[in-house]
Amino acid sequence: MTDVAERLQELRDRGLHRRLRLVHGPQGPRVLLGGRPVLLLCSNNYLGLADHPRVRAAAAEAAMRWGAGAGASRLISGTMEPHRALEERLAEFKGYEAALLFGSGYLANTGTIAALAGPGEVVFSDELNHASIIDGCRLSRAETFVYRHGDVEHLAWGLREAAGRAALIVSDGVFSMDGDVAPLADLVRLAREHSCRLMVDEAHATGALGPGGRGSVAATGLSDEVDVVVGTLGKALGAYGAYVCASAELREYLLNTARSFIFSTALPPPLLAAALAALELLEAEPARVRRLRANAAALRAGLRAEGLEAGGGESQIVPLEVGEAEPAMALCERLLERGVFAQGIRPPTVPPGSSRLRFSVMATHEEGELRKAARRAGEAAREVGLATALPVAA
Ligand SMILES: Cc1ncc(COP(=O)(O)O)c(C=O)c1O
Repeated sequence: MTDVAERLQELRDRGLHRRLRLVHGPQGPRVLLGGRPVLLLCSNNYLGLADHPRVRAAAAEAAMRWGAGAGASRLISGTMEPHRALEERLAEFKGYEAALLFGSGYLANTGTIAALAGPGEVVFSDELNHASIIDGCRLSRAETFVYRHGDVEHLAWGLREAAGRAALIVSDGVFSMDGDVAPLADLVRLAREHSCRLMVDEAHATGALGPGGRGSVAATGLSDEVDVVVGTLGKALGAYGAYVCASAELREYLLNTARSFIFSTALPPPLLAAALAALELLEAEPARVRRLRANAAALRAGLRAEGLEAGGGESQIVPLEVGEAEPAMALCERLLERGVFAQGIRPPTVPPGSSRLRFSVMATHEEGELRKAARRAGEAAREVGLATALPVAA
């Protein structure tokens, strides 16, 4: 039997122990944490839609009209009208023939990968893919070839070695902890050359990248070439849940074979209505996406002025790599004392030795407060003696 107390102590000793913090109020740009006002810079409510009045009202109205829950898996008690409406809108938004809703991004990735690959086949997965993709690969019982992050040559080598057994290439579109974008055109080319499917997880790309926030695949004009696009409803779309966009045939296959779809209760109507309202707002107000990008640029510029160089290209995910877990958490605490909440990220979320502070920007932040947050980050880094150890701006 596992000794829980010992395991917990080991986590504490390694600086990897986690705890929950109580936040008051919705996931807006500013919240109360332990009774103190802080600037929230670690929420994935990128477009400020989770707390938008129209999104809240849509959820409340749906609860009154359709109730709080969906009752069962859709294969058991049926598809409700809001499931169908949201799937149709999502497919149209992403430029795909069809969409299938899942309970969460975690469930979408595990269920879809395990349905698309099996024993005797090979899945090719970027080394920095999200944990739900890693777990999907494990569940599939296919062999998994983990290629070096964004390394197309390494992937091509693995595909040649697989000699016709390749079933699937899978990658985050925007990487969740690094904020950079996958080399999508090369992934498409290799998938075609080796006759395997390509799946892209747009959890952090939807609402943030591409025309009208349609994501990284749409940004590169490759929607016709990527077989499966996964998106989540819990980040830029402000609600909870996820979807898979694909051909109508693939959708039919997934709803017959993806165990996380078949054996899990369907998404509740209030969340579906909230996500639909958020999608309508995103389509009606594309300026939110531009604002998000401008805010990300403002934070990056502010950090650079402090001598801190963030990674992640231009996206709204702004990682400041520290190295070991303890100094990363010390930096998080010092910054929190200064009224800025950016989460410290440690293994196993990121590889050992790459612990970091992960800022995530919202469209609803003010540029001035982001510049101030960057100054506070500079002070905190100097206070914990990290300023010289962190990547330095040129
Ligand atoms: C890239 C990526 N995929 C999938 C997920 C899981 O989505 P969900 O939170 O809806 O389970 C996450 C995030 O949390 C993610 O960052």
